[in-house]
Amino acid sequence: MNVSVSVSETLRGALTDLLDGLPPKQAGQAVERLIANYRGATPTDAPILRDRADVAAYAAYRMPATFEAVRSALEAFADAVPQWSPAGHVDVGGGTGAATWAVSSTWDGTRPVTVLDWAEPALALGREIAAANPALRDARWQRARIGTALALDPTDLVTVSYVLNELAAPDRAVLVDAAASAAQAVVIVEPGTPDGYARVIEARDRLIAAGFRVAAPCPHSAACPIVPGTDWCHFSARVSRSSLHRQVKGGSLPYEDEKFSYVAAARFPVSPVSARVVRRPQIRKGQVLLDLCETEERLSRTTVTKKHGDLYRAARDADWGDAWPPAP
Ligand SMILES: C[S@@+](CC[C@H](N)C(=O)[O-])C[C@H]1O[C@@H](n2cnc3c(N)ncnc32)[C@H](O)[C@@H]1O
Repeated sequence: MNVSVSVSETLRGALTDLLDGLPPKQAGQAVERLIANYRGATPTDAPILRDRADVAAYAAYRMPATFEAVRSALEAFADAVPQWSPAGHVDVGGGTGAATWAVSSTWDGTRPVTVLDWAEPALALGREIAAANPALRDARWQRARIGTALALDPTDLVTVSYVLNELAAPDRAVLVDAAASAAQAVVIVEPGTPDGYARVIEARDRLIAAGFRVAAPCPHSAACPIVPGTDWCHFSARVSRSSLHRQVKGGSLPYEDEKFSYVAAARFPVSPVSARVVRRPQIRKGQVLLDLCETEERLSRTTVTKKHGDLYRAARDADWGDAWPPAP
């Protein structure tokens, strides 16, 4: 059985059940309130997710997307550390637990899982949804505020998903340093925007300074070759749209693409890709153009033509975010 498909279906089912008790109009209004809040000034002094309606809206509307983004980042990380799987997981700013679902979808089995967040209603709902996932049955959902007093217990894996975005610079630094001191591996995911990428690079620098090596998406742990302000490294994960999405956003597309930036790094040896496809490949007649980030700390464009035989066929199948060349 494909573990990841079944975990994502279970999550989708649990989220549909959650909305069953909420009239569509109320759910739609809660999502609109949430979007307006997130457009306002963040960081905030108090949680944005204040009550069950806020959290149910967040879970139904955003959790499938953050889950797919983290799952995609973890998949790339797992490819770079094939012998490793986490014996414990702490999800900081975990909210309703999207990253815990993504970890259980990436690695089989169970492990101690702790979710930390300052929003009690998010933790309560996360615990409720997690009842549908056997790997999360014993997860601990704990209230914690990210700030100078943050202390993380030692663990194998710390995830920080869509959280740096909500913190002021000093708290971002505290959080990344606390994750680096507590964990063997740290995975940080942010929205795939120029600002999200800038926060990922800031975190990446701190992890490297703390002795970590970058496992993904970068092919190396040297400086990012993107000239600041000219571009941003990001990827895309496909997310099926729920009926709530269609209600709020209109349109009839059955999916949307969640753009995200990320870094996955570890204290132990990692095997990063030799190059990664960093834009959607352009397929032309008889040729494929691939934009690559390479081990030699540079970005390049490669043209693969029919003359390249098997490599050309592989290039036609290559996707944004994939390793290049593909593993034999
Ligand atoms: C956008 S949500 C992301 C939730 C989850 N990680 C995900 O990927 O779906 C940001 C989360 O960070 C939490 N958060 C923001 N600032 C925080 C702080 N100072 N201390 C603890 N949690 C915080 C919020 O309560 C919220 O659950």
